[in-house]
Amino acid sequence: MRIALAAVLLAACGGSREPEHVYISIGTDAVNQVMTVAAREGAPPELLEAGEGVAVLAVEPGELEGISQLMHEQFGRCSGFLVHDSLADAQVSLHPAAAAALDYTIDHEPVVHAVLPALDRNAIKGTIAELSGMPNRYYRSESGAQASRWLRDRWRSFTTRTDVTVELFDQGYPQQSVIMTIPGTTRANEVVVIGGHLDSISMYAGKNGRAPGADDDASGIATLSEVARALLAKNYRPARTIKFIAYAAEEIGLRGSQAVVRDFKQKKINVVGALQLDMTNYQGSEKDIWLMKDFTNADQNTFVAKLIDTYVGATWGLDACGYGCSDHASWYRAGVPASMPFESRMRDRNKSIHTADDTLELSNNNADHAIKFAKLGAAYAIEMAKGEFGPPAAITTSASHRFALWKLIALFGGLALALTALVRRR
Ligand code: BES
Ligand code: ZN
Repeated sequence: MRIALAAVLLAACGGSREPEHVYISIGTDAVNQVMTVAAREGAPPELLEAGEGVAVLAVEPGELEGISQLMHEQFGRCSGFLVHDSLADAQVSLHPAAAAALDYTIDHEPVVHAVLPALDRNAIKGTIAELSGMPNRYYRSESGAQASRWLRDRWRSFTTRTDVTVELFDQGYPQQSVIMTIPGTTRANEVVVIGGHLDSISMYAGKNGRAPGADDDASGIATLSEVARALLAKNYRPARTIKFIAYAAEEIGLRGSQAVVRDFKQKKINVVGALQLDMTNYQGSEKDIWLMKDFTNADQNTFVAKLIDTYVGATWGLDACGYGCSDHASWYRAGVPASMPFESRMRDRNKSIHTADDTLELSNNNADHAIKFAKLGAAYAIEMAKGEFGPPAAITTSASHRFALWKLIALFGGLALALTALVRRR
């Protein structure tokens, strides 16, 4: 039974088998137990390095199943560790690239205040209902693949603007990440990312098991979708480029976001900040929004807290996941300032995630909690990306061309008149 459960868990959580030993990064809080359990089975892992909250271990591939099971049973994590191809990659978790400082300012009140009333909690609820109504959104399942196409079409329907693109990002899994880009006007090469994960997982039922993932993370996807819809409904034109990203394959070790981060690095895309919305609609604690302190950027977190005070009017506190619990950790590792505003304290978290019980009913069939995160997301998008409302780039450009043409005609007309006057005088 133990072995069978471990096999199901590993299948669901996506652990892999490799010929030699593999490297994992794991929360330091779990190291002792992992060492003890693996040693008991005759394959003691080697602790290679431990830093702030993260440790790197070399383990035998055969031990991954047991570790995955331990992390699930003792820590409620799925799987709670990342598997790395190389020691160098694992060590990035301990020594993340330094984040470039940004000048965080709150000076776009009129733009934010024009967008906030356009946010609709019923639209968020509707999106959660549609996503959680799918059998599951597992990264290797047909309905997981269908979820990507569904979201792409939904996002595309938000605007007819041709400067706004919506693309699928392929990384070799049936499920693809979805990326919507609103290009910046004056600082287009500086990119602001707002993300969440599209996949869901059933810890017990495997690939095709029911995994509604209403909170984890249909709520985050629905929240950021609503931010995008409202911004586009107002014809918002950011100065910096904004990318909305629904990552595939988060639940099996942040693989979707790691692939996106790798791709952006290769293309030298300069991401100046990332906001992760993973679980926004289950109010488990007395305060509304909890900013995760670990695997995030302290300066950006301070800015996010100011945004809450200025625009959301919600209560907030600080907490920690204790490990790289979502896609913000992929950006953090790459040196991008990341923040993760969360729906509850860690200790009061929704205990139904990763099961068939992660439903909208658990949030009283409404999106009253998620709407606070949508307000925060819109404020973050606008105060990070700045910009104004206005017509799409194409119209602006052709309008300015038309203006230039009129100036030319006027100039030539003026010249012709002057010449005629001169000729007549002679
Ligand atoms: N949304 C969860 C993370 C989470 C759960 C944060 C509960 C705070 C409270 C996320 O989708 C997830 O399940 N992450 C995995 C770790 C990841 C590295 C595979 C987890 O927590 O086990
Ligand atoms: Zn999850």
